[in-house]
Amino acid sequence: MKYAIFFESVTGNNEALANKIKEALPAEECVAFGKPDEEALKEAELVFIGSPARGNNFMPPVLDFLAKMENKKVAPFMVAGYGDTPAFFGMILDRIESKIPESNEVVGRFAVQGKLHESLVKKYSKMYEGDEENNEWKAWMANYERSQSRPNQNDFDRAVKFAKEVYEKANA
Ligand SMILES: Cc1cc2nc3c(=O)[nH]c(=O)nc-3n(C[C@H](O)[C@H](O)[C@H](O)COP(=O)(O)O)c2cc1C
Repeated sequence: MKYAIFFESVTGNNEALANKIKEALPAEECVAFGKPDEEALKEAELVFIGSPARGNNFMPPVLDFLAKMENKKVAPFMVAGYGDTPAFFGMILDRIESKIPESNEVVGRFAVQGKLHESLVKKYSKMYEGDEENNEWKAWMANYERSQSRPNQNDFDRAVKFAKEVYEKANA
């Protein structure tokens, strides 16, 4: 089955995940790999589509692209920074899926945590200046530290499994 892997990636986490997805699938069936592209979309029957979490959602250009899809099998994937629980990922993925028009079929979805950029520490530390013992800030920093080793090998292994399962389901 002809498939495309479209993604946005500002700091490289989604790109790394997209590469793992690509490596897991038959190369000869891949019609596109890279930024969302309407021309390439026409050729694909199965679309993997990924984005960094922004505002606990996909980035706006990726959401706009989702809304243009018709009669595709679709598998959204995402790297998020602010959490690492099924409930957190599920909340965002449900929001994303609600933007996929009904003529499409969602055949799988996948999310992992990715490293937060250090610029965010600067941004948020300003909010807590003089209040460094604040529990919210401490929790934020603890999550930041945890995020630095992600995505890890286990995340990549799970991405490969996701890609293979989606491809099999789409072909069934
Ligand atoms: C400006 C900005 C806003 C972000 N907003 C969110 C967010 O709302 N929710 C979240 O879980 N992560 C958020 N993140 C973290 C990114 O989604 C995360 O670092 C992701 O791995 C980035 O993917 P990329 O490396 O492919 O760009 C934000 C990061 C930046 C820089």
